[in-house]
Amino acid sequence: MRQIIVQFGGTGDLAQKKLYPAYRNLLNKGYDFTVIALGRRYPDCEAFIKGMEIENNSDFHKHLEYVHYDMADPTGIGNLEQKIDDIIDCATSIELIYYIALQPSLYEEAIKQIKIIDSHVSCSISKKIVVEKPFGFDSASARRYNKILSQAFTDEEIYRIDHYLGKEFMQNLLIMRFHNDIIRSIWNNRTIESIQIIFDETHGVDQRLGFYEKIGVVRDTIQNHILQIVTYLTMSEPASFSPEDIATEKIKVLRSIKPIQDYHLGRYESLGSAGGRRINTPTYAALKLYVNTFYYAGIPIYIRTGKMQGKAVSQIYVKFKNTTKTVMNDDKIRENGVIINTHPELTIDISMNLKEPNTSWKSKPVKFRFNHAETFGVNTPEAYEQIVEKILQSDKSLFPTMREILESWRIVEPMLNETQDIEIYPDHTRPKFAKRMIAKDHLKWFV
Ligand SMILES: NC(=O)c1ccc[n+]([C@@H]2O[C@H](COP(=O)([O-])OP(=O)(O)OC[C@H]3O[C@@H](n4cnc5c(N)ncnc54)[C@H](OP(=O)(O)O)[C@@H]3O)[C@@H](O)[C@H]2O)c1
Repeated sequence: MRQIIVQFGGTGDLAQKKLYPAYRNLLNKGYDFTVIALGRRYPDCEAFIKGMEIENNSDFHKHLEYVHYDMADPTGIGNLEQKIDDIIDCATSIELIYYIALQPSLYEEAIKQIKIIDSHVSCSISKKIVVEKPFGFDSASARRYNKILSQAFTDEEIYRIDHYLGKEFMQNLLIMRFHNDIIRSIWNNRTIESIQIIFDETHGVDQRLGFYEKIGVVRDTIQNHILQIVTYLTMSEPASFSPEDIATEKIKVLRSIKPIQDYHLGRYESLGSAGGRRINTPTYAALKLYVNTFYYAGIPIYIRTGKMQGKAVSQIYVKFKNTTKTVMNDDKIRENGVIINTHPELTIDISMNLKEPNTSWKSKPVKFRFNHAETFGVNTPEAYEQIVEKILQSDKSLFPTMREILESWRIVEPMLNETQDIEIYPDHTRPKFAKRMIAKDHLKWFV
């Protein structure tokens, strides 16, 4: 079957940096599809190819078309319909994949236009619709989008993206937890004391301000990526790794989390200053939450994430209770921990105490390390390649369900209140509230 991807936001950052490399690799792997890129920035295909720096005469180039498409211009729909008709060219075995990679304020209009386009071409072809995260601005808009979508697509045909689910470390979290007896038996509130999830980025968002200023850190990462990580860390064993069984367990986790009350927001000082504007969109957040299920209740989960930091950190730290130091009456004995680093390379460390040489019964924490690249090589496909491949294959295992999305909006809703205090932090420094929040519980960030 021939597949056609209609790429809304075909001139955007996501398309250029992530989607086009993924499409290129998948074509090289033997998939056969055509991409129709849509955007306003370039008048025609030639300018598009040049502007997006797509290699001339490459395999990808041969599978790429461009339509100048402004959603505010009613003639765009007719041009796109014509292009789709030309590509279909009377073939009957065709699948149309509409991929929306636009800022969320445009989703509603895009979905309406897709419905018109689809009613023109949908005779005897199959179809899918792919929607980038965040799905909606809040619970109400997510429900509204879904209602409009479901007038033209079945739930089976809707792919809601959270590309973190395509990341190797996320899938490895489930394998590590559920394919290892020793990990299973220690992964609960009898042994785990606390969990830290830290995603600090050094870059700002001024390049993508038009998009980011309406979004902020809560909608950009916490409602989706971070809460998905929490579900992977704390869900119970699924009956199988089928999409339905995994979703069942994730929903239980999300439903057990109360709307977040313990949180702080910040924004970096220079946000918007390049354009001479002062923008009060949060770019950093620190928060604490609990998963109130039988095996995880009582474990505080501390989260810290945002932009314009001094050092890039992508780390999950699972700290175990330290009963040994009491039993052995020795305060120098350190706790055990599992440390998962996800970037620049995936490593998993298990920290244990072993004897320090030339001492009399003194121990020292040492790390047992798994390094993904050293063990498996560096050829693991990027998250977007895995995600797009699943879409082409009609496999829904790496996509959050609508229920998960709605529960996630419910959890972050208090953080979306626009009248709250936002600390201004100097560029490349951490907001002061991050330290304050965790110090209140007599703890420190692991990094
Ligand atoms: N960038 C990333 O790394 C990344 C990662 C994960 C998820 N995402 C998600 O991907 C989506 C897009 O993000 P992005 O970073 O690619 O945004 P972006 O760089 O700002 O691109 C926005 C796209 O929307 C198009 N557009 C805007 N207004 C339009 C209109 N009226 N009619 C037709 N097209 C219009 C733009 O076309 P013109 O510029 O040609 O007008 C451009 O192609 C967002 O939902 C974001 O959350 C992005």
